[in-house]
Amino acid sequence: MSLLAVSNLTKRYHRGRKPFAAVDEVSFEVGPAETLALAGPSGSGKSTIARLVLRLIEPDTGRIEFEGSDFLALSGAALRARRARLQMVFQDPLAAFNPRATVARVLDDPLRIHNIAPHAQRPRRIAALLERVGLDTGLAARAIHE
Ligand SMILES: Nc1ncnc2c1ncn2[C@@H]1O[C@H](COP(=O)(O)OP(=O)(O)OP(=O)(O)O)[C@@H](O)[C@H]1O
Ligand SMILES: [Mg+2]
Repeated sequence: MSLLAVSNLTKRYHRGRKPFAAVDEVSFEVGPAETLALAGPSGSGKSTIARLVLRLIEPDTGRIEFEGSDFLALSGAALRARRARLQMVFQDPLAAFNPRATVARVLDDPLRIHNIAPHAQRPRRIAALLERVGLDTGLAARAIHE
């Protein structure tokens, strides 16, 4: 069974008055523990596909199935819950964070927003996450720009 199945995905933009398809009838599948690389020249639509799959933008046509259900049909709380299972690492990862926020704040946000851990447990969870990726837990108090 595929984890992510994308079929006939299309996203159109306008260049001046002229519409063009940034993503044109794209289909692919990714299975559990599988890695898929999209390669192509600048402007060929790779980032647009990633944004569509996360529903940061909506497609004009196509279907996205994630973990066996119709991802495009979700809204509200159901969409938020399912979205917690998808993540994008942006091309400029440093620009994705508020440079003045602390590392702890950045790691705390998703735990809070998705109700992953109650308030009292979150500092411990944050320390455990840092340890898991081989970072000093003392970094939690530092600002992102540091
Ligand atoms: N919001 C938008 N409005 C209009 N055109 C857009 C928008 N977003 C992307 N495009 C256009 O869609 C096309 C695909 O862009 P996209 O950023 O997906 O390419 P890419 O493959 O990620 O490129 P790169 O390798 O440079 O990151 C480009 O022609 C781009 O100019
Ligand atoms: Mg890109």
